[in-house]
Amino acid sequence: MKGIILAGGHGTRLYPLTLAVSKQLLPVNDKPMIYYPLSVLMLANITDILIISTPTDLPQLARLLRDGSHLGLNISYAQQDEPVGLADAFILGADHIGSGPVALVLGDNIFHGHSFYDTLQANVSNVDGCVLFGYPVSDPERYGIGETDGSGRLVSIEEKPAKPRSNRAIVGLYLYDNDVIDIAKNLRPSPRGELEITDVNRAYLERGKARLVDLGRGFAWLDAGTPESILQASQYVQVLERRQGVRIACVEEIALRMGFIDADACDRLGSELSSSAYGRYVRTVAAEFRDHPAPSQN
Ligand code: DAU
Repeated sequence: MKGIILAGGHGTRLYPLTLAVSKQLLPVNDKPMIYYPLSVLMLANITDILIISTPTDLPQLARLLRDGSHLGLNISYAQQDEPVGLADAFILGADHIGSGPVALVLGDNIFHGHSFYDTLQANVSNVDGCVLFGYPVSDPERYGIGETDGSGRLVSIEEKPAKPRSNRAIVGLYLYDNDVIDIAKNLRPSPRGELEITDVNRAYLERGKARLVDLGRGFAWLDAGTPESILQASQYVQVLERRQGVRIACVEEIALRMGFIDADACDRLGSELSSSAYGRYVRTVAAEFRDHPAPSQN
C-alpha cells in the first residue's frame, strides 16, 4: 500500500504563525507536527510515501525529511499550487499510487492510543472500497460526520453539517482501493469550491463499499489546526512522554522497531541530534534495542 501525507493549505487560522513557516513544521511538544502523521503511515508498514504541499513549503519539508532513506523510507514530493480540496491528493498522486491501494493522512492530524498499531495492521491489508475511522467529538459541525444504523453500519456522511446527525467525526486517515483515483477525477467542486474528501467517501458509501472503524473513547485524535489545538496537542504529548519516559511519534524509534533500519543506523541518527533530549532518547532506544529487540506498538 502507498501512502500520502497532505501537508499544504495556507494555515490561515494560525496567522501570523504560518506567514513564514509551514503549519506542518510547527512544533507539537518536541517534534515537528508532520512526524505524527508520518508515524501513522510507518506503523501501518507503509514505506513509499508522497508528501503534497505548497510550492513555498515543499522545500522546507524536504529539508527535514529528505528522501526518507535514513528512515528506511522512500519519500517523494508533489506540489499543490492551490488548496482546491483534500481529494486533489488522488489526482496529484495518481502516478505515485499506481495500480494498488492507498492511505491518505492529513498533515495536521495526531493519533495516539493503545492498540492503534493493531487497528492499523488489521485494516491496511485487503482494502476493498474504503475504510474510514470514526471518533466521538463534542463539536461535530466542524468535521465530516458519519451516521450509523443500530448495527454500526455507516448510512450517511456529511461535511460540516449545520445540524449533525451524530457526533461521530470521520478523522483525517483514509484507506482506499485504487478506484479512488477515478472517483476523485470525476468529482465536482462542492458549494465551497473544493474537491471534498466527503464526496469521495459518499461515492464509496453509495456503492456499498465504505466501512467505518470506531477508534473509541480511550483513544486520542487531535486536529492541530488552531493555536489552541496545537497547544492542547503539545500538552497531551508532554504529559504522556514525561510520565512514561517514552516518546510519541519518534520516527527514528518507529523505523527501528518496524525493522526499516537497524540499531546502528538508529544510533547514528540519534548522535546527529545528540545536543537535544530527543536525540539522546533516540540513542538510548538504539542501545536498549540491541540488548532487547522489541517490535513497534506505538
Ligand atoms: O481533520 C479531519 C477533517 O479534515 C475531516 O473530518 C473533514 O471531513 C475533512 O474535510 C477535513 O476538514 P478540515 O476542515 O480540517 O480540512 P482543512 O481544509 O483544514 O484541511 C485539512 C488539512 O489538509 C490542512 O492541514 C490543510 C491541508 N490541505 C487542505 C486542502 C483543502 C491541503 O494540503 N490541501 C488542500 O487543498
